[in-house]
Amino acid sequence: MSPGNSRADDASTADVHSHARPAEARVTHVDLDLTVDFGTRVLQGVATLDIERQPGAAVTLDSRGLEIQQVKALGKEGKAEVVPFTLGPADPILGSSLTVKLPEGANRIAIAYRTSKGATAVQWLDPAGTAGGRSPFLFTQSEAIHARSWIPLQDSPAVKVTYTALVRVPDGLVAVMSAEQRGKKAGAYEFEMRQPVAPYLIALAVGDLAFRPLGPRTGVWAEPSVVEAAAKEFVDTETMVEAVEKRYGPYRWGRYDLLVLPPSFPFGGMENPRLTFATPTILAGDRSLVALVAHELAHSWSGNLVTNATWGDFWLNEGFTTYIQQRVIEDLYGVARGDMERLLGYRELKEELARFAPKDQVLRIDLSGRDPDDGMTQVPYEKGALFLTLLEKTFGRDRFDAYLRGYFDRFAFKSITTADFEADLKQRLFVQDEAAAKKIDLNAWLHQPGLPTDAPVPHSDRFAAVEAAVTRWKDGAAPASLGTADWSTHEWVHFIQSLPDKLDAAKLAELDSAFGLTKRGNAEILVPWLVVAIRNEYKPADARLESLLTTVGRRKFLMPLYTELLKTPTGKARAKAIFDKAKGFYHPIAAESVSRLLAGKS
Ligand code: BES
Ligand code: ZN
Repeated sequence: MSPGNSRADDASTADVHSHARPAEARVTHVDLDLTVDFGTRVLQGVATLDIERQPGAAVTLDSRGLEIQQVKALGKEGKAEVVPFTLGPADPILGSSLTVKLPEGANRIAIAYRTSKGATAVQWLDPAGTAGGRSPFLFTQSEAIHARSWIPLQDSPAVKVTYTALVRVPDGLVAVMSAEQRGKKAGAYEFEMRQPVAPYLIALAVGDLAFRPLGPRTGVWAEPSVVEAAAKEFVDTETMVEAVEKRYGPYRWGRYDLLVLPPSFPFGGMENPRLTFATPTILAGDRSLVALVAHELAHSWSGNLVTNATWGDFWLNEGFTTYIQQRVIEDLYGVARGDMERLLGYRELKEELARFAPKDQVLRIDLSGRDPDDGMTQVPYEKGALFLTLLEKTFGRDRFDAYLRGYFDRFAFKSITTADFEADLKQRLFVQDEAAAKKIDLNAWLHQPGLPTDAPVPHSDRFAAVEAAVTRWKDGAAPASLGTADWSTHEWVHFIQSLPDKLDAAKLAELDSAFGLTKRGNAEILVPWLVVAIRNEYKPADARLESLLTTVGRRKFLMPLYTELLKTPTGKARAKAIFDKAKGFYHPIAAESVSRLLAGKS
């Protein structure tokens, strides 16, 4: 048994995305003392790490672009001694190893360091990038392996740590973290996370932030001008927490709050413990996009409690979470909405499977030599959720719910591999019904490309009605006669995605004037519409396209629009011009994705 192993078993499943060798020396606690300097855009301070190690072992950490100033070893009696350290060569994906040899008896090191301009986890925003326009803003995004760009630590999801932090911020700004707020003294905020979490879950945001409670243990943080709208949009949050608890066991993190970020946040949401980070693009005004809240909340069980041990097992985080998200939506808003959301996800999965190489279509994926962010496709999310839905249908909902509840208890606060899950599934679920178990081809689902023929294909009556409306319109019916008055966001998305590929300007103008599509504020509807507009060179949408691409930095919206633009020479020139204007506003992760796309690299 290695020191303080948080893995469920002791299989030596190496994390190919970390330099750490936790079997020899393992970080168990991280203490941060950081100063946030908006002037130089640098985080500067000291990370003090508690270490459990084999006698005589050196400790190896991950770092990327960090300027390491000094390392001290701290002995049991608090004796501090400056010790030498070695920075390994800078691997473009993994960064540099940071190896420290410790004197005998030392079990703690204090690393004085600063971040560099290129820190991929950190986005520094000028006041102009915020809703209020008056204060600067900072946020971090550590998943998958960006924590090492702002904290020297063992950046592997199999090395869970507790953490404490003291964050010094300029007057008038508020700091929040994925941890409990312990208090504030003299311009510094104190935090503590007492449960062990994977390093990719350490998160910080600083800005002009206000708070509104939503329920006894739920609330929302946002800039003052956004917080009221956010509180309205997220009224159901407390009920959602209760819904997940009812099925899968207690919420173990104390509070569940949301933080609405400025629009350059590159993702929809990030499940930072106790404090989900979310894009403002889900504030649709009609609560139609709260599946994202259900998703990030569900990670409090699948992901934050039971964690993928390596990025090749990412589907254990995202597939389980997508499945639970769908169940929560069904519990709160009914089967019809659940079906629509399942079908939208299924459709995206099928599109990707049609163009992906076989090796990228498997749930347990080999990402060695690649950036683990490349694994963020619909496969772990939607194929993973389909697999769990198949298990649910085959063994029955009650039995599968009970299995999952036990799974979260058995592996709570641990990191597990796909093999650990397979063993548990056989031992705990398959034995309950051997006839059902025989029907499940585990190898096909977990390790083979494509979608097995027994995949439970979602169906939605409402979408069937939308498709019928598209057909009527193609046959000449007027838009006003299509019965769209009560359509939800989901039906609009499906309507737009079901339009014929080629449409002339007159037909597009007819839809646009009837339904105000170019004017939509809801990006889930607007973006597919703009894709249609680009494809058909519908000029009246040009200005809206440019305004979206220069004010929203969510990668999910940027990628399909730039992809569509790249299909023609004029579009390509336009894409480059817009990207030049927008790239300073995008988060490094989003800017990198778009620039790779423009360079024809992905
Ligand atoms: N954990 C992910 C975000 C993530 C994954 C960041 C991999 C970096 C690397 C988060 O839970 C997520 O899946 N967000 C989705 C929204 C969700 C509703 C599918 C997103 O941001 O689009
Ligand atoms: Zn997720």
